Amino acid sequence: MERDREAGGAGSVTIAGVELVLAPPDDHDVEWIDFDACIQRLAAAWLRFSPKEPPLTPRIIGEPGVGKTTLACAVAHRLGRPPYIFQCTMDTRPEDLIVTPVLTADRRVSYHASSLVSAMIRGGIAVLDEGNRMPERAWASLAPLMDDRRYVESAAASVKIHAHPDFRLCVTMNQDASVYELPGYIQSRLKPRVDVLNPPWELQEQILRQKCPTMDAALLASVFELLKQRVERGVHDTTRDMLALALYAEKLRRSDVDDPLGCAARQVLEKADA
Ligand SMILES: Nc1ncnc2c1ncn2[C@@H]1O[C@H](COP(=O)(O)OP(=O)(O)OP(=O)(O)O)[C@@H](O)[C@H]1O
Ligand SMILES: [Mg+2]
Repeated sequence: MERDREAGGAGSVTIAGVELVLAPPDDHDVEWIDFDACIQRLAAAWLRFSPKEPPLTPRIIGEPGVGKTTLACAVAHRLGRPPYIFQCTMDTRPEDLIVTPVLTADRRVSYHASSLVSAMIRGGIAVLDEGNRMPERAWASLAPLMDDRRYVESAAASVKIHAHPDFRLCVTMNQDASVYELPGYIQSRLKPRVDVLNPPWELQEQILRQKCPTMDAALLASVFELLKQRVERGVHDTTRDMLALALYAEKLRRSDVDDPLGCAARQVLEKADA
């Protein structure tokens, strides 16, 4: 790395004569209430006891809304490293993951590093969110990053970019039908598997209390009651669904709608029941 400028925004670096504009880290609020030693299991995968030993690249697996992205960001915060989230989609191209050339107003080409490459340069933690929505050709460009080579190559900018020693990577995935089966050589690099399950009931109560601090206490108690009855019937709502239910019920209450909880339940939990 030849030059590193941080003034204004996330800064830029010059590598082999090419200036790369960096993306800023993610700064959304991440409060994680831990269970099942999720924090330790993920943090352990990223430990490194000697420079010869590459850190592992865990895949975090669980239902949509169970807390996978939040867990990855929470561990990054706990380790004092900035998290960089890259949202993977079916349209993600290899260059989107690495460096994208952008035409400037004065007709120059400026090279913009992805959030993944920005994390590699800054020594942050990159979260490839919903990784199995991304096709194989995009994954192929990451193979050297996920073994002891720890670099990526940008065809657009003609540079090889080496990861900072503190850089760590993880991938979140859920197992619905709209995803790709990853090729074997990528699957074998995405180890260990960290499963995130629905937290125990008491913790879900705690999460709801924490995330809905201004909610009417009686309404919150009714939300718990309704959710608990569903658990007893064997229906397990994810944390995101529970939060959406509680937050919407409170909005309906403040909008003077009759039976805010019943109404919110019909509109929020309908899909989970279907
Ligand atoms: N253990 C937890 N502690 C605190 N908040 C939690 C916890 N689990 C889930 N949440 C909250 O639940 C919501 C959903 O979490 P998140 O977006 O991380 O889920 P996800 O598994 O990544 O979902 P998806 O597969 O759709 O990307 C967030 O608002 C998050 O803050
Ligand atoms: Mg997520």
